[in-house]
Amino acid sequence: MKKHIYRPIEALLERVIDETPNIKTFVIKPLEPFSFKTGQFVELVVPGVGEAPFTPSSSPLKTDKIEITIMKAGFVTDRLHAMKGGEKLGIRGPYGTSYPVESFHGKEVLILGGGVGLAPLRSLLYTLLSDVSKFTKIILAYGSKTPGDVVYKYLFPEWNKTRGLEILKSVDVCPVDMDWEGEVGLVTCLLDKAKFDPQKTAAVVCGPPVMMKFSTMKLISLGFDPKDIYLSMEANMSCGLGKCGHCQIGEYFICKDGPVFTYDKLKHIGDPFV
Ligand SMILES: Cc1cc2nc3c(=O)[nH]c(=O)nc-3n(C[C@H](O)[C@H](O)[C@H](O)COP(=O)(O)OP(=O)(O)OC[C@H]3O[C@@H](n4cnc5c(N)ncnc54)[C@H](O)[C@@H]3O)c2cc1C
Ligand code: FES
Repeated sequence: MKKHIYRPIEALLERVIDETPNIKTFVIKPLEPFSFKTGQFVELVVPGVGEAPFTPSSSPLKTDKIEITIMKAGFVTDRLHAMKGGEKLGIRGPYGTSYPVESFHGKEVLILGGGVGLAPLRSLLYTLLSDVSKFTKIILAYGSKTPGDVVYKYLFPEWNKTRGLEILKSVDVCPVDMDWEGEVGLVTCLLDKAKFDPQKTAAVVCGPPVMMKFSTMKLISLGFDPKDIYLSMEANMSCGLGKCGHCQIGEYFICKDGPVFTYDKLKHIGDPFV
């Protein structure tokens, strides 16, 4: 019998990792074979509550479990944040476009993340690090609101030791009682510190719409070609399958034509970041 496109596969929530006061990482074991490409998203189904789109933050090379890092934002995510290991979930997908990792071979890759936007970029980072010699350099530039809002704190010591990976961090503000060894300022300030050649670099950006807008403007002013700026777009989605029209920007459906777009594809749309 043909599988129904809206039928989720069953999955078990194995473990929940606290990241920040409003962000948690969910370690999920799909009970049927499941794989995705870095940058693609899934619809996570909370039985009896609803579903919402998320981009896995784990390596696509690990297929037995997937990790998804989720910020508490409303109805579905509130319930997810109350869930414990052992509870059941559903997964639909994967859907949408992925990062064209092979086209980055021989280039520098600048990963620019804001807040929970580091989640899909962590999946990309794992993919790049699995074949690190293929890239001239990898720069991870990450901004969050305060030191308390940094996700994956426990992974940075290991990433700092990785050959070929340069890490820059910023916070918008640092309260006086908090330790911070990075920059203080909006994430775009890191673009003045990072050393890259815009002609030979692919920039991959993910974060809140305002961060993506100002980061894109800054990258253009630094000499990046719009074809080399990869954006992970978000939208209020429903079907995730290009059928309902909820996620439309310009002539595109983000769920089907994205979520990964080059800025070149979007730049004719008045303000693609609203
Ligand atoms: C491709 C994709 C990947 C994503 N990946 C991640 C991820 O990895 N991690 C993550 O944390 N989030 C991710 N998101 C965002 C995530 O999907 C939303 O935070 C989630 O859907 C919120 O669901 P909810 O039911 O908890 O919130 P809701 O109850 O739907 O509300 C969320 C917030 O949005 C507002 N809102 C709802 N509908 C609208 C609307 N039509 N217009 C304006 N505001 C509205 C609400 O008022 C509320 O403040 C992703 C989104 C997309 C499209
Ligand atoms: S979410 Fe329905 S068309 Fe994109």
